[in-house]
Amino acid sequence: MRPKALIAANWKMNKLPSEVSAWVRDLKDALTGKVLNADLAICAPYPHLPALVEAVRRTAIRPGAQDVSAHKAGAYTGEVAAAMLQDVGVELVIIGHSERRQYHQESDTLINAKLQRLQEHGLVPILCIGETITEREAGMTEQIVLGQLTACLQGISLKLAAELIIAYEPVWAIGTGKTATAEDAQEVCGAIRTTLLKLYPTLAEGIRILYGGSMKPDNAAELLSQPDINGGLVGGASLEVASYLGIAEGA
Ligand code: PGA
Repeated sequence: MRPKALIAANWKMNKLPSEVSAWVRDLKDALTGKVLNADLAICAPYPHLPALVEAVRRTAIRPGAQDVSAHKAGAYTGEVAAAMLQDVGVELVIIGHSERRQYHQESDTLINAKLQRLQEHGLVPILCIGETITEREAGMTEQIVLGQLTACLQGISLKLAAELIIAYEPVWAIGTGKTATAEDAQEVCGAIRTTLLKLYPTLAEGIRILYGGSMKPDNAAELLSQPDINGGLVGGASLEVASYLGIAEGA
């Protein structure tokens, strides 16, 4: 069965913890009387999380983080463990974002360890994969994306499709205003589904595959109508309630 769309906001390093509750209140107000065909999640920086968890309590909006340590606990200055996120009330965690791969040299092996930590604490990973422009122009898109997918999922077993979310984010489309065409995005997401069917035959159809990269209200509906695109991971356009909601209304 086709999973319900999820529109996950990725606030990246934006906003202040003191701004969270007013933003969520504005979102809740804007949602009044509307029926969406999408679930909502907000992935915020660590210091924002207690306020976010509190603000979305008793709503269907799910609170998320943007990273997690690959370690369980101990002498890792500056790191944040999965147990801490769980304790705060976080439900989803983005891992393997291309900005972490690019600026913090994160490898598929490290991301695989992070996935294991999330599973130990019942947190749902939003696993990001995607090719650079050089890789796309060299005709290597599927090789790169499916290679990242299988390496990151090495040894990961799932009991439920809801335990894993994939985000296909072509690196060249992130924050650039260049969106993949709906056909290009569907082609890669379809290939991701085929690989998931091999890895998790009974669950793959229910695993959400999100598209990310300059998603906006005016391109969301077309992207979200593709058979293997089950939502979006939204950066820039998620910072304003109106554009975030505009995307969710495209589902
Ligand atoms: P963008 O970012 O929507 O600003 O392109 C998406 C992401 O990086 O998750």
